[in-house]
Amino acid sequence: MRDATPAQTDETVYLKDYAPVPVTVTHVDLHVRLDPRATEVSARLTCKRQGPGEMVLNGEQLEMVALRLDGKDLPADRYTLTDKTLTLHDAPDAFLLETVARISPETNKALEGLYMSNGMYCTQCEAEGFRRITWMLDRPDVMATYDVEIEADLPVLLSNGDEVAPGKWHDPWPKPTYLFALVAGNLVAASDRFTTMEGREVALNVWVRPGDEGRTGYALDALKRSMAWDEQVYGRAYDLSVFNIVAVDDFNMGAMENKGLNVFNSKYVLASPETATDTDYALIEGIVAHEYFHNWTGNRITCRDWFQLCLKEGLTVFRDQQFSADMRSAAVQRIGDVLQLRARQFREDAGPLAHPVRPESFVEINNFYTATVYEKGAEVIGMLRRLVGPDGYQAGCDLYFERHDGQACTIEDWLKCFEDATGRDLSQFALWYSQAGTPRVTVEESWEDGVWRATLRQVVPDTPGQTDKIPMTIPVAWGLLDADGAELRPTEVFELSEAEGVIEVETASRPVLSVLRGFSAPVILEHDQSDADRLVLLAHDTDPFNRWEAGRALAKARLVAMVAEGTAPDAPWLEAIAKLARDETADPAFRALALALPSEDDLAQTLHVGGIVPDPDAIHAAREAAGLAIAQALASDLGELRRAMRVTGPYDANAEDAGKRALDAVLLRLATRLDGGDAARAAYGAADNMTDRMAAFTCLLEAGDPSVAKAFEEDWKHDRLVMDKWFAAQVMHSAPDRAVGIATGLTRRDDFDAANPNRFRSVIGALTAGNPAGFHQKDGSGYRFLADWLLKMDAMNPQMAARMSTAFDTWRRYDADRQDLIRAQLDRIAGESISRDLAEMVGRMRG
Ligand code: PHE
Ligand code: ZN
Repeated sequence: MRDATPAQTDETVYLKDYAPVPVTVTHVDLHVRLDPRATEVSARLTCKRQGPGEMVLNGEQLEMVALRLDGKDLPADRYTLTDKTLTLHDAPDAFLLETVARISPETNKALEGLYMSNGMYCTQCEAEGFRRITWMLDRPDVMATYDVEIEADLPVLLSNGDEVAPGKWHDPWPKPTYLFALVAGNLVAASDRFTTMEGREVALNVWVRPGDEGRTGYALDALKRSMAWDEQVYGRAYDLSVFNIVAVDDFNMGAMENKGLNVFNSKYVLASPETATDTDYALIEGIVAHEYFHNWTGNRITCRDWFQLCLKEGLTVFRDQQFSADMRSAAVQRIGDVLQLRARQFREDAGPLAHPVRPESFVEINNFYTATVYEKGAEVIGMLRRLVGPDGYQAGCDLYFERHDGQACTIEDWLKCFEDATGRDLSQFALWYSQAGTPRVTVEESWEDGVWRATLRQVVPDTPGQTDKIPMTIPVAWGLLDADGAELRPTEVFELSEAEGVIEVETASRPVLSVLRGFSAPVILEHDQSDADRLVLLAHDTDPFNRWEAGRALAKARLVAMVAEGTAPDAPWLEAIAKLARDETADPAFRALALALPSEDDLAQTLHVGGIVPDPDAIHAAREAAGLAIAQALASDLGELRRAMRVTGPYDANAEDAGKRALDAVLLRLATRLDGGDAARAAYGAADNMTDRMAAFTCLLEAGDPSVAKAFEEDWKHDRLVMDKWFAAQVMHSAPDRAVGIATGLTRRDDFDAANPNRFRSVIGALTAGNPAGFHQKDGSGYRFLADWLLKMDAMNPQMAARMSTAFDTWRRYDADRQDLIRAQLDRIAGESISRDLAEMVGRMRG
């Protein structure tokens, strides 16, 4: 395998260059005097030499007020200060380093380091934000205990660990800088308690702005369930006397696992039936769990360096997916996770931004908080669990926690625990961490003389900087049905570890193969199965994931033919769909998923892989036509089916009720295609919760009802989170030729604040990700709109700009005209003076 990384610059950091620090820090004593423009951070670092070399501390955007070593001002010839580093010459073996830095949180719009959001102070240090607070060894393999004192005329002063006096915090657990947090403001808490299995009493608080207290109940409940689950399933208990969660309106990501002080995007904390949808509730549950689970997988055991990011993220995503599967329907959870994986990670893996789960180089680490590191990283853990079995997995995890508690580790450390616990050699499996690209697995079946044979072949595609890859260990779960749908062979796992492998079964009749059950590996399966076999699987497969997958394959084949050959949807398919919609034995949530058509982006990728240049307008039109045909096929049943989905009693976010609402929403969308919005208008008026209201609202937007957006705005203009939905819905549910105009109009409103990431995403992200045909309008207006905003955003918040720029990463799929238009925008961005973050992304996309 050749390995050269594209877009190398002087600033590139390499995994192979890792070296421990010569001088480390074992304790940090911080005194922070908060002020909007002149916060003073006094730091006393207990330093200890562990090898030869100079101590190089990180520090950016800091004004130096004082510098002392062992109590004495440091003479100018003993150190060198640059805009990024502080280097100490001839540092002794053990010493106390004191610095005083001045910083300006109010003007910090990058939302990294210490910043202000609605009058409250908060920090975001992962990955390298601590260096914007004070000088420090800002890297995860330096773990220190902390004492923090906060001085401010504000009622609530929070940091990590336990509070020892008002505004004074002590964190006894050594941690890297990226887990540091400080919050100060006029906040109120919703509180509860939890007693751990070790008998520790823990105070739980969810801190919010006054007025939001009523929307904290679900997050608190999800936290308690997460704590109990981690004890039961992984044997992990919480380790401090308090666990704080803070909701912040301005936040770049979803949430952050700072030790004992999780900071959340308020979107993933606050929920009430009137303001949050079922999807919001499910996300809150999953993200609360995710951040809580990091306390062991991330905090107690952390990463040696940022190349190992998937060590904590892949594992923690896998754990939160397991948790959600236990709390809800496992099948529905798996289908949702795979939909996400394909939409985001397969797309990434197929384009110029493809990188291994463990990258080997980067310019800006913030650019590697990706679907590959997170979601594919989680799939790798899932495959590992399948290969070593549930008991082997538990033994490996137990050993990992026992052996590495308190350490900063690597993927090698993790895998070694499973090798030692199970005796299995995982060297080939480890290729999943280093080889990028989604493997393709083709399946060829034959049945002759009473022997059924499936030949499986794998190819790992070339990706930027990587060619000629080695076959990987791919666990392929499979089973057989007979032509009537009865089970012939229950699920087994075939380990495809070479380029080719064969499964053989003696059977008197031709079986129907159900392969890659549960989506047992993140691969693209090419299996030329007949419609008849797929219909058998859709109706009878014992594996619910593959039931859904068979339906999806049927739908995809239709839609591809509609786009490429102009065919119309055929009757047998429409009958099968209608039958599924009416199948009262199936879970409504499952039926809702099975009735949903593949996304426009998914279809574009499928066409591209099949050698057809995707036309975004044609894809949009085909999906509309298929939706209309389904609506017509179900026309006479829609009213009754919807009545059967009616939920009685007060709103409850549980999975069963949510499933009914989800199916009702799908049916309402079908009804709208036939009645021009009558049913949706009635549903909008009758809705007593945000799930039903949003479903009706988006239908009415699609039906082109001009009055509904005004009415919604009147009702909700006071509520930031609900208005984010209002902004996004109008962009996502407008006709493609109007989307850019609508998005542009929305950005001109007074309440469009680009500095707020949620609001920015609810317009710009809604266009690029939520209305592909609108974004890809052939006049290039969508591309220009995005590029204009990337340049504006980059000056404020480079991380946000870089992330949003990935909307361009599929540009090589499209026709020459669109390619030229996108290329011109990428060139234009590259020609401006832009951040390192955005420059790296644009550089990789231009190739
Ligand atoms: N570590 C966070 C998580 O996955 C994500 C995050 C990364 C948040 C960087 C902020 C900054 O839970
Ligand atoms: Zn995480």
